[in-house]
Amino acid sequence: MKIISTDNYDDMSKKAANIILSQVIMKPNAVLGLATGGTPVGTYKQLVEWYKKGDIDFSEVTTVNLDEYRGLPREHKQSYWYFMHINFFNHVNIKKSNIHIPDGFDMDAQKVCKEYDNIIQSVGGIDLQLLGIGNDGHIGFNEPATVFETNTHCTDLTNSTIEANKRFFENGEEVPRQAYTMGIKAIMQAKKVLMVANGESKADIINKALFGPVTPEVPASILQIHPDFILVADKAALSKINVN
Ligand code: F6R
Repeated sequence: MKIISTDNYDDMSKKAANIILSQVIMKPNAVLGLATGGTPVGTYKQLVEWYKKGDIDFSEVTTVNLDEYRGLPREHKQSYWYFMHINFFNHVNIKKSNIHIPDGFDMDAQKVCKEYDNIIQSVGGIDLQLLGIGNDGHIGFNEPATVFETNTHCTDLTNSTIEANKRFFENGEEVPRQAYTMGIKAIMQAKKVLMVANGESKADIINKALFGPVTPEVPASILQIHPDFILVADKAALSKINVN
């Protein structure tokens, strides 16, 4: 595990984007696992900036997103499909056919999840997986559970996640109660895992996930045993751990 401490959110975003840039330079046809949420917005913004300057080319890149709300059409302003297009895909030269996000509007959970696992397999697995972390330790929408979920699955969102995500909706009632998420297995099989975290509100969970016991009750704790895991976080998110 490598921890990169940054001064603030912009610095975190830039350093995380640099790691993604290096990955794409080293392997132009890399498979990037991508995340949504508030934390990686700055990382995408930085990548778009570098793309506009001609410093990075996404023409051969393939992406697989971590998750999608179940029941939201793509066009819904809070769907992860919409988020990814507004924040990233619409601004770079990625091929539409190389973009993969679970189809949240298809209510056939078994079909959606099986198809998504087939996609992850058919693209050859993930070279670099970008992650945020939920206040309850979730990665993707792998919520605290009694067993580590392995494959893509449909999950009930916890109250803590609904509470955290309601800031993006008109009110709490509108937050979907379920989501499709990539499983822990595909995340752990990614060659490199890059987590971004910022702000004091993430300090407790970062400490618990990375220095507490490895347990399904804290899904992100499994990353302690990933062979190439990098956390890029600002000082506030690292304030509860002894960085030494
Ligand atoms: C989003 C995702 C989630 C978020 C997590 C943190 O695709 O998989 O695990 O990374 O909920 O969200 P923010 O960044 O909004 O704190």
